[in-house]
Amino acid sequence: MLMNINLPTVNLQTRRSRVGVRALAGLLLLTASKLILAQELGDHQYTSEAIEAGSRVYTQQCALCHGPQGDLIDGINLRRGQFRTAQSDADLVTVISQGAAEGRMPSFDLRFEELNGVIAYIRAGFDPDGIAVKIGDPVRGKALFEGKGECADCHRVNGVGPRTAPDLSSIGAIRTPASLQRNMLDPATALLPINRPVRIVTRNEETIVGRRLNEDTYTVQVIDSNERLRSLRKSDLVTFEISDAPSKQPTTLSSDEVADVVGYLLTLRGLR
Ligand code: HEC
Ligand code: HEC
Repeated sequence: MLMNINLPTVNLQTRRSRVGVRALAGLLLLTASKLILAQELGDHQYTSEAIEAGSRVYTQQCALCHGPQGDLIDGINLRRGQFRTAQSDADLVTVISQGAAEGRMPSFDLRFEELNGVIAYIRAGFDPDGIAVKIGDPVRGKALFEGKGECADCHRVNGVGPRTAPDLSSIGAIRTPASLQRNMLDPATALLPINRPVRIVTRNEETIVGRRLNEDTYTVQVIDSNERLRSLRKSDLVTFEISDAPSKQPTTLSSDEVADVVGYLLTLRGLR
């Protein structure tokens, strides 16, 4: 289940001295992949021009009722992406162009750039410099998560699935859409320092391969490849390797499919 644990061995004694070099290499890698990412994000995110166009539409046509911060209507906060029924961008298109609540939310006959723009502005959190990730259909996203996307091969949701990758049951409550999307498109730059794959050899010559959950000065906690939680004293370890390699490849799903999976992940809020 775990892969790519073939980075330079870091013995406890030499670890400190190598960190600098590895951090520098990591930084260069990060810069390069950020450039590539910027080129590829076009299909996955709204442009800054769209966000700007949307801010004009919003001020002129929506702020009157929803307020400059998008929070004037009970139970709805447009800036934070809290709606009553809408989830996907397609739902927003429907609400805006058909209206809701017997006309209390009027229907708008907007041009494509205006409609696209106002959705971009909402998805950017009303921030002209924000990242406005496209958000698709959660039902399709769930099917992709469990099927073609192969996410469920590694991730556990609401008690189902393996424990070798992080449990995603409440991921929608703790990560932004942009970070969820980045994890799929560019796992190498989305790595969290914790969660790293580790390979450990103890003084008893036991080899443990797993995922790091926690670490302090004297101990490290890992989930091993048999999904057991292990707490180890560092003084009992001969080798302690932490991999910087991403645990997975960028997804091969299309941009619409990625949007659907993001839509699904956002519904995972730890409510069972
Ligand atoms: C005349 C007042 C009014 C204007 C103008 C208005 N809205 Fe609304 N909007 C409402 C009301 C009222 C609701 C709550 C409807 C309900 O009860 O479900 C709402 C709901 C919404 C929702 C949430 C739908 C859901 O599923 O919860 C969105 C999104 C929305 N409006 C976007 C917009 C946008 C974008 C504009 C500008 C193009 C706009 N609104 C202009 C009154 C307005
Ligand atoms: C080969 C196993 C594997 C597959 C397949 C996989 N992941 Fe992951 N994923 C991981 C591991 C391991 C981590 C944590 C380590 C890391 O950050 O690389 C992770 C991290 C994540 C995170 C971040 C968790 C956090 O705490 O922020 C998200 C979100 C995520 N994956 C979503 C997905 C989605 C969606 C798919 C399917 C498109 C997927 N993963 C496919 C192994 C996998």
